[in-house]
Amino acid sequence: MKLKFLTILALVVIMSSCGGEKAKEEVAKEQVKEEVVKEKELDKIDPMKDKGVGPIKSITLGDIDDALVAKGKEVFKAKCTACHKITKRFVGPALKGVIQRQTPEWIMNMILNPEVMVVENARAKELLMEYSAPMANQNLTEEEARAILEYFRTKI
Ligand code: HEC
Repeated sequence: MKLKFLTILALVVIMSSCGGEKAKEEVAKEQVKEEVVKEKELDKIDPMKDKGVGPIKSITLGDIDDALVAKGKEVFKAKCTACHKITKRFVGPALKGVIQRQTPEWIMNMILNPEVMVVENARAKELLMEYSAPMANQNLTEEEARAILEYFRTKI
């Protein structure tokens, strides 16, 4: 009788520990799945549909405005060249071709609202990880940011 009881007890212990292992394994599997989903999230966002976070919701571009380009070039030189070069990586990314990899709205939001962009926007967050220095808010007006965008639209 006592032996039977011990056997049952042993079985219960073994079964419950097996259950525990299984549960742990499930949790680990779930965690791996979540990581993979997170990584794929960025791949799923089409960069040319991502407008970023900030004051610029939607802009329409017309023909290139040369006066605006000249103004943008000037503001860029004064406020951005401490960290950016056009063709070379510096403190921040090289900005050549930026208009082909980000939407106009995303670019303006990155200029006007970088501190929120690097926290809330997946693509900006990834850049922050890569460059490990935060993009500074240069307190530009929307008009100045728009002028820089016009400058970026020329084949810089
Ligand atoms: C203090 C340094 C600093 C200054 C000043 C700065 N940036 Fe940046 N910028 C960065 C860094 C670093 C990144 C990468 C994102 C991050 O790490 O926050 C970045 C990212 C960007 C991006 C995204 C680039 C890409 O490849 O998608 C754009 C566009 C940009 N900056 C434009 C500007 C403009 C325009 C100005 C001037 C108004 C400016 N930045 C001023 C450091 C700076």
